Amino acid sequence: MTSTLHRTSGRSLAALAAAAALVLASCGDDDGAEPGAGGTSPGAPTSTEFEFFSWWTGAGDSEGKQALLDLFAERHPDVEIIDATVAGGAGTNAQAVLTTRLQAGDPPDSYQRHVGAELQPDIEAELVEDLTWLYDEEGWRDVFPEDMLELATVDDRIYSVPVNIHRSNLIWYNPAVLAEAGIAAPPASWDEFLQQAATLEAAGKTPLTIGPSWTQKHLLENVLLGELGAEAYSGLWDGSTDWESTEVTDALDMFTEVLAHSNVDEAAADWQPALDPVIEGDAAYNVMGDWANTYFATAQGLAFETEYGVTTSPGTEGIFNWLSDSFTLPVGAPHRDLAVEWLRLAGSKEGQDTFNPIKGSIPARTDADTSLYTGYLEMPLTDWNDPEIELVGSLAHGVVAGGAFNTEIDSALGEFVASGDSAQFASAVKEAYEANQ
Ligand code: GAL
Repeated sequence: MTSTLHRTSGRSLAALAAAAALVLASCGDDDGAEPGAGGTSPGAPTSTEFEFFSWWTGAGDSEGKQALLDLFAERHPDVEIIDATVAGGAGTNAQAVLTTRLQAGDPPDSYQRHVGAELQPDIEAELVEDLTWLYDEEGWRDVFPEDMLELATVDDRIYSVPVNIHRSNLIWYNPAVLAEAGIAAPPASWDEFLQQAATLEAAGKTPLTIGPSWTQKHLLENVLLGELGAEAYSGLWDGSTDWESTEVTDALDMFTEVLAHSNVDEAAADWQPALDPVIEGDAAYNVMGDWANTYFATAQGLAFETEYGVTTSPGTEGIFNWLSDSFTLPVGAPHRDLAVEWLRLAGSKEGQDTFNPIKGSIPARTDADTSLYTGYLEMPLTDWNDPEIELVGSLAHGVVAGGAFNTEIDSALGEFVASGDSAQFASAVKEAYEANQ
């Protein structure tokens, strides 16, 4: 692995893992069996059907997935692939459907989960198989960042296969809208955003667009990060930053002010339609992860830097707010043999270098062919490998909060967006954090 992952102002991915692992304090099982024990290679596949479950549907989310499924189909031409998607960015709808299926003992053959706290309850409930044997067979311990694997590991067993690294802390913009309003560059702080917002509004433009609740959570994490900095932001997830401190309340109030300069009253149905007013020249900015690049460049055919631009979200230069999509082997997968073949492909160099340049992400593997990552993708690849960059984990995409804690944040956030009551939100999240230790 690269040594670059052992940094971030004293907080490594492993520290994030420690926070996530608190959810797992009781993960040792009662019956003495290993959690999700499986652990054997099924040999050459004989099944003829494979069901793959994700939320990758719609423009910008489906293209990378399709490239990987096509590669799988080439290797298994006689297999019927069931592409079981549930629409809705960040998997908010998919995860609800998945929970119902898993509880009913009706798992797909492989499903999408973010690396980190989001995966932990599945491990705890023994819903996913231990994949350590697969890592050993494929030599993967040497090619994935060790600290990242730690976030998919419990009791020395690894439970999912990370396929990519996405970046959350980005602000996308329409260069023509900025030029027309006389704005030279995107804002370097949220205070500067507020100044620009007044100029943009005077010019009849929406400063910032927004979509459903999870996009508001995505904005929230990046306003908190920009206002608090990497260390204090990470401290929100391990108890070392007090949610009720003045610093945090001020950052929450900034979120409310920022939202007041958005179209939150007419919030878009998902992240793609939230980008459309920016593309159409009616709005200037949108804060979104780098799956947006596929929407701009591939789905809409726009030219990077001239027709759309991107930089780190205000106040987060030098910080990489990351997340990772991974795939699991559910206990009781009906076509386990093909699920294992799918995971082998998802974790392979060929699989990752086929998927990621199209998906708008960089590979989780450290041995990728860097020449494939051009245009926008040069920026995250360079930054991810920069020893000076500080790494923090995403809230909206499962790295730092999962399970009940995450559900409680969602409901408190809904109330906060409606009321603007930062003190109430801070105390609700603090209480939820403490209750889930
Ligand atoms: C994220 C996921 C990305 C992308 C995005 C929008 O949670 O990690 O791969 O799908 O949601 O749906």
